[in-house]
Amino acid sequence: MFEAVAIAEFDRPHALVIGRFQDGDIEPQLKAMKKADPALLAVIRDAAKRPEGSGESGKIAEAFPPSGGGNPDRVLIVGLGKKDKIKAADFRGIGATIAKRLSATKDTKIQLNLGTAAAEAELDLALVGRCLGESFGLLTWDNQQFKGKGTDIKKRTSLELASDRKPLVKGLQLGLDLAAGANLARTLSETPPNIATPKFMAEQAKKLAKAVGLEYSIIEGKDLEKEKLTGHINVGKASENKPCMIRLAYTPENVKKNKSKPIVLIGKTMTYDTGGLSLKINNGMVGMKRDKDGGCAVIGAMHAIATIIKPSRPVVAYLCAAENSISDEAYRPDDILTYRNGVTVEITNTDAEGRLVLADALCYACDKDEPQYIVELSTLTGGVVTALGSTFCGMFCDDDALRAKVEAAAETSGERVWRLPMHSEYREMMKSPVADILNSNPNRKAHAGQGAAFLSYFVKEGVSWCHLDIAGVHAVESDTGPYVKGPTGWGVKILADLLSGE
Ligand code: BES
Ligand code: ZN
Ligand code: ZN
Repeated sequence: MFEAVAIAEFDRPHALVIGRFQDGDIEPQLKAMKKADPALLAVIRDAAKRPEGSGESGKIAEAFPPSGGGNPDRVLIVGLGKKDKIKAADFRGIGATIAKRLSATKDTKIQLNLGTAAAEAELDLALVGRCLGESFGLLTWDNQQFKGKGTDIKKRTSLELASDRKPLVKGLQLGLDLAAGANLARTLSETPPNIATPKFMAEQAKKLAKAVGLEYSIIEGKDLEKEKLTGHINVGKASENKPCMIRLAYTPENVKKNKSKPIVLIGKTMTYDTGGLSLKINNGMVGMKRDKDGGCAVIGAMHAIATIIKPSRPVVAYLCAAENSISDEAYRPDDILTYRNGVTVEITNTDAEGRLVLADALCYACDKDEPQYIVELSTLTGGVVTALGSTFCGMFCDDDALRAKVEAAAETSGERVWRLPMHSEYREMMKSPVADILNSNPNRKAHAGQGAAFLSYFVKEGVSWCHLDIAGVHAVESDTGPYVKGPTGWGVKILADLLSGE
């Protein structure tokens, strides 16, 4: 859609965007345009009388003022719906509608004067700006990066944005910055498995660390054995692309004593999930390049954390990177693995592999980091997609305080979560006749809950943690709002908002 979007100042915009409520008229908008050319106001008034200028949400009327007098070439009157119904978050959809219209016009200097309308509805202008910024920023991403010489790629325009209120401009910049983090996650998600191997993911993490000043380290090869990271070793065994656990760390400038415990983020980074010997069937494998999206979101969030959020607590991130493949060396159903914390796991299904690598990171973080709390993101189960579709991420968290923080971050970021239950009966379901637990109960009940129950065996007593199953929300099947078909970068914004309170 756009090559890039930036905040700028200019004398004369190419396009002026103003809002209009369905149950109001255009006059408050015109009154705010002090010193405007009367001819400009006249064409806007006329356009607002046309059916598409009615203010109904999603509708846009265009007006073309006479040239000269600093007039824009074009005015877009954007329908905002009913004034008493509108919320700041609605500006995500409104932003996408505006951006899509602007991309057809090729205008590049855009004056977004939505502050008057937002103030009329008593909305938080910074949040309105942020939502608009997110949409414009997310629309700079497309899925064309692997198009080659066989495709004529259209040249994209770069946009410059200005606005009528200072808090709105500040919000716009925050939204653009958050979108940059999400777009990084999307680019990694989109990268195919023949390129995006565990090593590639480590290189990307290292590159980010260098660019934004994070600590980077990796556990691979013999060190995986030394650290008893048995999930990585076994899940990654069959692939020539060897597994690794990647660590990134952010340390604030002056860590206060009461804020010295780190927040730990963990991301499932399965660079491809064939299912292993319990091979995926009936096309179930297609798209499994995105089984690394938990890790991609954590990388995108670390970008935001290091560049804009800068929390006053340390943040440690682990990416559990492996490729779940098949060969004569593959781990198998019936194998029994012994974890770092002494828990033994009977493998019943090699396609329930995500939990096996995540268990390593949970044990390791509990041992090494003394976490304030842990938030883990993974494309863990098809079950959560059945339960919640793509509308909510499945959230498993029994700590009231942490859950409240995650829910607040979900509200601000627009990345919705829905609480799913944890219960001792689910933990019972994971008991194995031959080992302590099994990795998947074959009776097909409560798949998403089984995943969370399994993970609970690897979190030390007393450590708060939250498991976010993003299998339904990490990608969209068709163009939706500010997203094109493909990855959404889900997780970057909610984690950034979560950490901005720390
Ligand atoms: N990566 C998949 C889960 C998944 C499904 C992600 C759909 C994205 C979209 C995971 O490793 C998996 O295969 N889960 C199995 C678990 C089962 C074998 C216990 C599932 O959910 O079917
Ligand atoms: Zn799987
Ligand atoms: Zn998987």
